[in-house]
Amino acid sequence: MPDFVGAVDQGTTSTRFMIFDHGGNEIARHQLEHEQILPRAGWVEHNPTEIWERTRAVIETTLNKANLVASDLAALGITNQRETAVVWNRTTGRPYYNAIVWQDTRTDRIASALERDGRGDVIRAKAGLPPATYFSAGKIQWILENVDGVREAAEAGEAIFGTTDTWLLWNLTGGPDGGLHVTDVTNASRTMLMDLEKLDWDDELLSFFGIPRRMLPAIVPSSHAEAYGRTRENGPLGGQVTLGGVLGDQQAATVGQVCFEVGEAKNTYGTGNFLLLNTGTTPVRSKNGLLTTVCYQFGAEAPVYALEGSIAVTGSAVQWLRDQLGIISGAEQSESLARQVEDNGGVFFVPAFSGLFAPYWRSDARGAIVGLSRYNNNAHIARATLESICYQSRDVVEAMRQDSGVALDVLRVDGGVTANDLCMQIQADVLGVPVSKPVVAETTALGAAYAAGLAVGFWKSTDELKQNWQEDRRWQPVWSQEHRDGRYATWKKAVTRTLDWVD
Ligand code: G3P
Repeated sequence: MPDFVGAVDQGTTSTRFMIFDHGGNEIARHQLEHEQILPRAGWVEHNPTEIWERTRAVIETTLNKANLVASDLAALGITNQRETAVVWNRTTGRPYYNAIVWQDTRTDRIASALERDGRGDVIRAKAGLPPATYFSAGKIQWILENVDGVREAAEAGEAIFGTTDTWLLWNLTGGPDGGLHVTDVTNASRTMLMDLEKLDWDDELLSFFGIPRRMLPAIVPSSHAEAYGRTRENGPLGGQVTLGGVLGDQQAATVGQVCFEVGEAKNTYGTGNFLLLNTGTTPVRSKNGLLTTVCYQFGAEAPVYALEGSIAVTGSAVQWLRDQLGIISGAEQSESLARQVEDNGGVFFVPAFSGLFAPYWRSDARGAIVGLSRYNNNAHIARATLESICYQSRDVVEAMRQDSGVALDVLRVDGGVTANDLCMQIQADVLGVPVSKPVVAETTALGAAYAAGLAVGFWKSTDELKQNWQEDRRWQPVWSQEHRDGRYATWKKAVTRTLDWVD
């Protein structure tokens, strides 16, 4: 058995390739950003061809850096930004349109219409999701209705859909020359088209969006030795490697954080924040604005479900400080700037740039900075931005407590923003529970590597994976309960100022 496992992590802003050893330690990585195409307010697109080129490049560069070849890898996993929709031609391999990204709100009318005529309840019951612009189905409908020739091509089986896992897997396994058209259960559970319990596309849901079943990939378990095929000889790996696992990125992080027991949860701080709580083999229906989603399915085992609180804008609010306001030159500077002041100086920032996701699900919300006075400066804005990441996470933790009756005793965290010490301290203070970060903070790629490695016997069991998890840092809350409650009440008031903004 070779000594390593590789994982592609195709994220919202960049694509990376990482190689891990048996202890789950990182051996090498390379990462490249891709363009964020913003043609109009609320629209967010990616170029799928650019994403495939970046994927090729990061795989080749990582293997070169580590001085490894395909035969050194026991398996390859893929993890990806979820929901983002690509439609392409299976004969030419060319996309019909840019990928419509999960953050894109152009389908808000499609989503509100579903809510008005009762179809929303059917989607909730079958797919476990509230109708929202976030999920793939409306994006596919938009491409079918607005791009010439796509509907006919989809009905003829020529135009096919995939989230970016499927797009990359199709290209890695042969592209037009026999590429496999498959996705895993976790990605399929983000489309609004899959029945959560049958784990199959549902004809009634397909009919709501006018989507022909022929254009959809086959749904398979997240970890499987045969379902995903092997990389083609003349691809970026330069040899055949078993594709053993695919997981949506937030589910992958849950696996990377070894949350295999009911009641275990993690919060990933990326472009957005995604808090997932393992609820076991029965899907739990949320009454408080959380999503019911598939957490993972390993081989022939029963699927494991999660409750998820998805927050659209957290790390991307820090990027906004850098790119749109120009008050910091890099993400790290958000911490030093925020540290220049003792507190937020009365300023609260609700970055509802894509409407509000969990637990509110209000696509009519838009961002607001409230509580400003002449006294305030850039440092207060930076501090309010970091606080917004933490308060939005608290909103989701409150919803989880109400849905599951379980109060968290510690929050496991990962992702880029966890490098921000001040933000993690604020998170512990705002929640009133300790925050714990593992040594390997790249849990998303690690989770995909775990799924792939389990499929081929590189790792024998989830118990073996648990032994790889080690704590790196822990932040303890220091605020008084009174201070915590007062601040949180003001945050909730700030949220109300963002609603009903768009007609
Ligand atoms: O649901 C969207 C999520 O999968 C995106 O994650 O880390 O690429 O922003 P990230």
